[in-house]
Amino acid sequence: MTADMKNFDLSGKVAIITGGAGLLGVEHAIGLLTAGADVVITDVNGEAAQEAARQLAAGHGPGKCIGMRMDVTDAGSIRSVQEELLKRYKAVHILVNNAAVDPKVKEGNVLVESSRFENFSLEQWNFQIEVGLTGAFLCCQVFGGWMAAHGGGVILNIASDLSVFAPDQRIYRKEGVAESQQPVKPVTYSVIKTALVGLTRYLATYWADRNVRVNALSPGGVYVNQPEEFVRRLTHLIPMGRMARREEYRGAVQFLCSDASSYMTGQNVVIDGGRSVW
Ligand SMILES: NC(=O)c1ccc[n+]([C@@H]2O[C@H](COP(=O)([O-])OP(=O)(O)OC[C@H]3O[C@@H](n4cnc5c(N)ncnc54)[C@H](O)[C@@H]3O)[C@@H](O)[C@H]2O)c1
Repeated sequence: MTADMKNFDLSGKVAIITGGAGLLGVEHAIGLLTAGADVVITDVNGEAAQEAARQLAAGHGPGKCIGMRMDVTDAGSIRSVQEELLKRYKAVHILVNNAAVDPKVKEGNVLVESSRFENFSLEQWNFQIEVGLTGAFLCCQVFGGWMAAHGGGVILNIASDLSVFAPDQRIYRKEGVAESQQPVKPVTYSVIKTALVGLTRYLATYWADRNVRVNALSPGGVYVNQPEEFVRRLTHLIPMGRMARREEYRGAVQFLCSDASSYMTGQNVVIDGGRSVW
């Protein structure tokens, strides 16, 4: 391995991923395992986290993978996972804040379209912000706080291309549905993802002298067999003419979580097939 490639090496590092049992969490885990880290997949669904870890345990490099239940909205749950990990590994060097609730734009007709801003409930607003934003805040406080007090580490906040532009609500439209009932990407998504970039900048400067680097990754939409019409409308907005493949963010995670990005902090890396530059 050349000296430059060695900067990507995460051997001896311990990484924790929140919401890790979902679509991209597993991809982040593969990226980190391949680079040599020991990876802890956590999720509010503890069984799914353990199952994901079991499936990744073999075949992705020297690092080991375990799964644990952790609810990012519950400070007690976060602290007890940290306690267990510190007993087991003595340190946690990398935190990937990935957990989110992404209410998909619903199929079928509903009496009142609850995704629309006028109808959006305070309950949904609070719930989604609690998971996607407050959850990241709590995990930064617990894991980042430990890093800051113990020589440093890396935090990666998973935002979205919707952290840099507004949703184009035309891509979510349903034929034959009244204007006032058209489904939309909810306001929470834009607010949470933009705020995660704010949290990233805040902590990057706050902990710059403690050797804790904090960056954000903003992925574009991943293709997972969405309806043809939706894909057609979305890809029309993307210069590369396609949605992302699920594995296409692994390299960025390896870069942002390793010394390959040692002079980088407070940045939002947008990987969107060029959508935001069109
Ligand atoms: N998939 C995409 O196209 C895409 C695009 C841009 C950004 N993102 C972002 O990437 C991240 C991962 O997305 P995904 O597609 O893998 O989503 P996903 O829904 O597949 O996974 C999210 C995971 O978070 C977990 N979760 C929910 N509430 C939690 C809580 N309270 N505590 C801990 N875990 C909790 C869920 O159980 C789930 O496993 C999200 O932040 C998402 O906004 C995804």
